[in-house]
Amino acid sequence: MTAELTVPALEDLRRRRSVKWRRFPADVLPLFVAEMDYLLAPPVAAVLAEAVTRGDVGYSTPGPELGRAFAGFAGRQWGWEPDPSQVTQVTDVGVGVVELLRRLVRPGDPVVISPPVYQPFFDWVPEAGGRVVEVPLAGTKLDLAALEVAFAAHPAAYVLCNPQNPVGRVHTADELAELVRLARLYRVPIISDEIHGALVLPGATFTPLLTVPGAAEVAVAVVSASKAFNLAGLKCAAIVSASPRMAGVVDSLVVEVTERTGHLGVLAAVAAFTEGDAWLGALVSTLAARRDQLASLLAARLPGVRWVPPEATYLAWLDASALGRDAEPCDRFLAEGRVALEPGPRYGAVGSGFVRLNFATSPEILSEAVNRMSGVTAAAR
Ligand SMILES: Cc1ncc(COP(=O)(O)O)c(C=O)c1O
Repeated sequence: MTAELTVPALEDLRRRRSVKWRRFPADVLPLFVAEMDYLLAPPVAAVLAEAVTRGDVGYSTPGPELGRAFAGFAGRQWGWEPDPSQVTQVTDVGVGVVELLRRLVRPGDPVVISPPVYQPFFDWVPEAGGRVVEVPLAGTKLDLAALEVAFAAHPAAYVLCNPQNPVGRVHTADELAELVRLARLYRVPIISDEIHGALVLPGATFTPLLTVPGAAEVAVAVVSASKAFNLAGLKCAAIVSASPRMAGVVDSLVVEVTERTGHLGVLAAVAAFTEGDAWLGALVSTLAARRDQLASLLAARLPGVRWVPPEATYLAWLDASALGRDAEPCDRFLAEGRVALEPGPRYGAVGSGFVRLNFATSPEILSEAVNRMSGVTAAAR
């Protein structure tokens, strides 16, 4: 499958009832939350339709299918062969990270994160009783020297975003090897959020953290089909461990954590991981084309905006500080341009002046959005 994925007409998109299409009035183009505008992968749509037709929408029960399906997918995509029995279903990535942190953190313990990073990281840590310690990225890369200083103070955990939302960086194997060396040296457990791992665009190579030598002793990964296959509402993710030590942490989760997973989410994830490769290939080509289109659009219409094109994800981290510091650019793009983006400060104080734009849409919607945004820039001059 090489043809680009198509997007339904805007009036059909507006009939969707998820947050992307509900939060703002109809004159706003929503490019904020990480939902895609494409239709589902056919094997995923088929398994869901079949389940609904049969009334097969009860509780999920942990079984071997999800682990086997993910292990097969990881092997084909990244040459990683996790043990299927070490794949534990959980409600979603957020629940997985919070519940793991609850096992690792005592009240008030420091937990390190590297902003700009997915905004709920700032909430997940206190939800589990911890205290956020920020070690910002150096540009778009992990600041390994600063992480060593933070790790030397023995935080309860480090939460890694691999690849990194919102900057779209795919941390390299060498960088992750150094991270693992530091984590082992200072005995800091790592929770690696790998939800964007399947969305690595041409030109970059994803390294699952648990493939780094020595990582298994200190790290777990939290994975999901929900970002690459657009299944966030179905509530299914998985924790992967690869050593008895970290399996012990996962096994200490109360059983309800796994039982709260969505049944439809498990069915959809198994179909996606088993039969979704061709559709995923078409998606990645489509996103690469949108990334290139966005580069041309920004150069032509918003030359004051600076960015590093993402190596992964469908999220662009745009430095729009040239608009001036009187207001966050996100507010101006919404009020004056009627384009909804994510505000940069949500990803940490270092995000002030930035916006995050979701380009998993049609060429027409993307072009129209940048057109509207360029009107805001012109008005500010
Ligand atoms: C890095 C990252 N982690 C987690 C999530 C949310 O995952 P879930 O809905 O499974 O909690 C997202 C959603 O965009 C994300 O970007």
